Amino acid sequence: MSAALADCEMCVFDAYGTLFDFNSAVDRHRAAVGEKADLLSGMWRAKQIQYTWLRNSMGAYAKFWQVTGEALDHCLQACGLPDPLIRTALMGAYLALDPFPEVPAMLDRLKRSGMRLAILSNGNPEMLDPMVAASGLADRFEAVLSVDAAGVFKPDARVYRLVEQRCGVAPAKVCFLSSNCWDAHGAAHFGFKTVWINRASAPDDGLPGKPVATLPDLSSLPDLLGVA
Ligand code: LAC
Repeated sequence: MSAALADCEMCVFDAYGTLFDFNSAVDRHRAAVGEKADLLSGMWRAKQIQYTWLRNSMGAYAKFWQVTGEALDHCLQACGLPDPLIRTALMGAYLALDPFPEVPAMLDRLKRSGMRLAILSNGNPEMLDPMVAASGLADRFEAVLSVDAAGVFKPDARVYRLVEQRCGVAPAKVCFLSSNCWDAHGAAHFGFKTVWINRASAPDDGLPGKPVATLPDLSSLPDLLGVA
């Protein structure tokens, strides 16, 4: 158990890469995509996130669904796969990404303990809501918060502020979980207690904000929080 997390009242989860596996979109269509499947999946995610940062810098917010499509178009071209049928299939899969295997039991354990649970994601509601519904996990969360309400992407502070605005929980009482190292740093810099879910065993980013802890996946989060 982490003493730093002892008085947390709410766990707020990043969605893509943290609760839901974005690689499951390309995985599902591996036969159609062919040998460049893993390259495409990694490149698509990197470009998608890069575009959110660039749009933040430009003051040119657009819904994450649009950004995700624009990133995919670039990557399909770069991989020599400009096929509209593959594009349609991959975008469709993004509306029903698989949760990581440990997620349902971990959420149930936290919820049974009385911990409040929410999602805070770059995704716009029109893409987040169907995905959460398809996973069968919707009733675990009291709120699915989208950056769309702030009109800017993570790691802008206006995004992290949505949690207190919508759920009434002070930042110091929030345990924020993200597999995106930059998001974990951004949220810690804002004032959340943050745990970096380092699924890829990646080196730390040299950014402001210090996560309280790092876990390889979410399975031991209840133990870290001291939940029975
Ligand atoms: C999200 C991205 C950053 O869900 O994974 O916000």
